[in-house]
Amino acid sequence: MKTAPIGVFDSGVGGISVLRELVALLPGENYLYFGDSANAPYGEKTTEEVRALTLRAAEMLFDRGAKALVVACNTATSAAIHILREKYPEKIIIGIEPALKVATDRFPTGHIGIMATAVTLREEKLAHQLERFPQVAVEKIGAPGLVELIERGKADSPETEALLRNILAPYVGKLDALVLGCTHYPFVKDTIGKILGEKTQLLDGGAGTARQTKRCLEQAGLLNPGPGSVIFENSATHMLELSQKLLGI
Ligand code: DGL
Repeated sequence: MKTAPIGVFDSGVGGISVLRELVALLPGENYLYFGDSANAPYGEKTTEEVRALTLRAAEMLFDRGAKALVVACNTATSAAIHILREKYPEKIIIGIEPALKVATDRFPTGHIGIMATAVTLREEKLAHQLERFPQVAVEKIGAPGLVELIERGKADSPETEALLRNILAPYVGKLDALVLGCTHYPFVKDTIGKILGEKTQLLDGGAGTARQTKRCLEQAGLLNPGPGSVIFENSATHMLELSQKLLGI
């Protein structure tokens, strides 16, 4: 049914950076956003734990009638997208991926960084993606503690800036592009830009994921003309106010 919601899922509030892009591109859709903040961060868990949590969230969203699922979490995509597609072969499932293709197209012989969670950096999915661009030097950059600060509503705090300065110090002036490989990171994009300077382009997969969602719904004849709506749900109910604020509309 066209009016059925698009389920959007993340380990917490990070996927709202993708939801923003979805709402901008497809304002007529009804969105049911589920953030699993009670279990965040996913990025430090075992692959099996991330799989189990992702399957549970997907089941909940499909039970609630979602016509499509957007996995707005790079960590969950890395660990579980193939399992979701096996379990729900008939369903429309879109998983966000790091914007490496854009980065390597723009800088085919350049120096690129990918900042992501421990799970995303160690999973095979990223290794396979990187194999396609052997000519590009890619730095893998972890950011322990960053997702927790963003979940606590501290994206714009001095504490977050200090953590980012520490993480990014070795890369200042060295990267052509930094791929933001976790959906929480667009919320600290300005601070990252301030630290790395104008020479480094910051890229994320949010807009590409929204375009892919539009293509899939179009093909299935499931685009909703509107009016649209957004419903937030979170396994930690105190996160709903921050969720509204981050969506910013
Ligand atoms: N937002 C998630 C991602 O895109 C992960 C954050 C977490 O560690 O829970 O990877």
